[in-house]
Amino acid sequence: MIELGPVPWPPAPIRTERLVLRRSEARDRAAFIELFASPEVGTYVGGPRPRAELENAPEVPGRRPGFFVIEADGAMIGMVTLDRRDAQRPGHVRPEGEEAELGYMFLPRAWGHGYAAEACAAALDWFAGALPGERVVLCTQTANGRSMRLAARLGFTEVARFEEYGADQWFGVWSPVAASD
Ligand SMILES: CC(C)(COP(=O)(O)OP(=O)(O)OC[C@H]1O[C@@H](n2cnc3c(N)ncnc32)[C@H](O)[C@@H]1OP(=O)(O)O)[C@@H](O)C(=O)NCCC(=O)NCCS
Repeated sequence: MIELGPVPWPPAPIRTERLVLRRSEARDRAAFIELFASPEVGTYVGGPRPRAELENAPEVPGRRPGFFVIEADGAMIGMVTLDRRDAQRPGHVRPEGEEAELGYMFLPRAWGHGYAAEACAAALDWFAGALPGERVVLCTQTANGRSMRLAARLGFTEVARFEEYGADQWFGVWSPVAASD
């Protein structure tokens, strides 16, 4: 895992109209297990992880810069991540690679309310303040309709399509300048 960069972490919890973005805590463990073990959540992201394996892991997931737990009404409903994209993988917008990449996973009961869009917009806003001027990339399976719609709603534009992990992938970029125009 490549660190996001010299960002102050954790920031004070970020509040949106309905949500809180904050670092992960030990009390999020059950929600993390539910998220990673869900076949529905795992459909386009490599499948669910075995519940026993998740339950035996000692650590609190997501203790790193750029990893936000998303909370609604006091409980975790998902996560939004900004990590560096490995230069060896396909899909880049600069020669040296290691672009900041947005990721998102929400519990199925939280889908269809605009929560992911609200949380990702706030995370992108935080990123634009932390590392001004930097672009953010995103990669999703083209078959993942919800994720494709979310990427468009957030203002990501297509850079390339390619195959990876045996599936068609959409690769897009978000620019803070274009987003604030
Ligand atoms: C990808 C994922 C985060 C999308 O979740 P989502 O809830 O569909 O995304 P949004 O927050 O953009 O919500 C949009 C939906 O909420 C609806 N909605 C309801 N109230 C809303 C509101 N107040 N504001 C905005 N949208 C609202 C929209 O109409 C839209 O529904 P539709 O897609 O049926 O038209 C979710 O499906 C997920 O976690 N999937 C599993 C993990 C995954 O595949 N991640 C992608 C890795 S690349």
